[in-house]
Amino acid sequence: MAAGIDDMSIYIPKLYVDTEDFAEARDVDIDKMRKGLGIYQMAIVDNNQDPACLAANAAYKIMKRNDIQPKDVGRLYISTESSFDESKAMNAYVVGMLEQVYGPDTFEHCGGVETKFACVSGSYALYDNLNWIRAGEADSQYALVVVSDIAKYDLGSSGEMTQGAGAVAMLLNDEPRLLTFDRKVTATSISDEYDFYRPFGKDTPIVHGQYSNLLYLMQVRKALELYKTKVISTGLIKPSPDESILDYIDYLNMHLPYSAMGRKALAYLLRHEWRNLPRWGPMIEKIGMAEPIAKTPGTIETILANPDFIKDDSKFNRLLMETDEFNDMYEEKLSSSLIASKMIGNLYTASLYLGFRSSLEYEHKKGIDLAGKRIGFGSYGSGSSAMVFSGVITEEYLDIVSHMELESDIANRRRLTLEEYEMLHRGLMPADESLLSGKDEFILTDVDKSNSERRYAFNS
Ligand code: HMG
Repeated sequence: MAAGIDDMSIYIPKLYVDTEDFAEARDVDIDKMRKGLGIYQMAIVDNNQDPACLAANAAYKIMKRNDIQPKDVGRLYISTESSFDESKAMNAYVVGMLEQVYGPDTFEHCGGVETKFACVSGSYALYDNLNWIRAGEADSQYALVVVSDIAKYDLGSSGEMTQGAGAVAMLLNDEPRLLTFDRKVTATSISDEYDFYRPFGKDTPIVHGQYSNLLYLMQVRKALELYKTKVISTGLIKPSPDESILDYIDYLNMHLPYSAMGRKALAYLLRHEWRNLPRWGPMIEKIGMAEPIAKTPGTIETILANPDFIKDDSKFNRLLMETDEFNDMYEEKLSSSLIASKMIGNLYTASLYLGFRSSLEYEHKKGIDLAGKRIGFGSYGSGSSAMVFSGVITEEYLDIVSHMELESDIANRRRLTLEEYEMLHRGLMPADESLLSGKDEFILTDVDKSNSERRYAFNS
């Protein structure tokens, strides 16, 4: 049985910090943020929002647009790493909010959990729900997977310039109008790591930035190796000895903690994929230097502890990224997926899927026929695990993609002053106040001081 994404919607908070203001306030070179990391704006939540509100807003949007009633939804999963409760799952909060609109107990039948594994957990939720559909358990109902997060780092930390917030809702079924996932090729890799983690009681993570960058690349590459074995053994893709698996992926979507990470990841994967192919010789000639090779066994610790290697390796990557071969591939397969991230920032679990949505919209706007194109996904979650999988765009995709309009999804945003941003970040605004009213949206109206119960309302 086929299974895939029938439709998707996004919800992005309407406040943002502009890098112009941020760079000035933190005395960071704006070119580092814009050219180095690829960040122009970061979405920030208002005082009357939390990750459950963001998720409910994205879920409501997709249900309304498709005229879906609660009885049509068999499963509602929320994936997040911004959870505010150790026990009560976020999908229960979202059900509570949706029932304010659809009526009491209308979701009573609907199963689901909150899933956690940093940014990769949405991909695990997607995979589990696709298998629920493939197993024939869905009985004509949809699964709704919502990825929702607030990426918040300590004030003044180097992670602070990679913040963002938002949610993506994905409607899954057995006759998807948008994308059908490839079967039996989903590949994972996992290891116990401390690159980025948020212990109980902390509302910002502990981060080892450069370690996390390198771990992301290595972990995704491991998953890609397994994906390769699977696509070849299932016969899905049959590359000849002088071809790379990336030649068969029309579009690549990577987890985007910041948009430049996608570009970095493409260079890393391409380098490892092409290294043993006949095309590598002419590439090395163009690059003009030998490829630096780390001493074996090259662990992240030994690599990071070797500044000479890091310097040579960065130089090699920079030269590789200047070649026509790299830039053609970047423009064709990746660049459109980075547009939304530049304007919104890191959405943790939702970043990969915001990127996918961005790629669809901006490739369609180039006038390209996307039907039949194979999409590769590189999902990464700190702690750490990666997942690589793929799918194919359906013939009916235009029904969905022609309505995608990021500009209107983020229209009328308000640019925060740094004072406003810091006040929100530090939680200094009185609980019953917010900068925006949140009209036609679910908002958080109260957190009871005596028992932490949360109250929400649809602000019509
Ligand atoms: P940093 O260490 O301050 O930045 O923080 P940097 O020195 O690495 O500079 C960044 C880039 O800007 C570099 O480019 C510089 O060369 C360039 P690269 O070498 O990487 O190609 N640069 C400039 N470019 C032009 N003009 C200039 C200039 N100056 C510098 N003047 C870091 C960067 C990402 C480490 C930090 O922001 C951070 O710690 N962020 C949070 C962690 C993170 O995002 N990690 C990413 C991988 S892990 C992941 O994705 C998982 C995550 O989403 C969480 C989850 O799974 O839940 C984070």
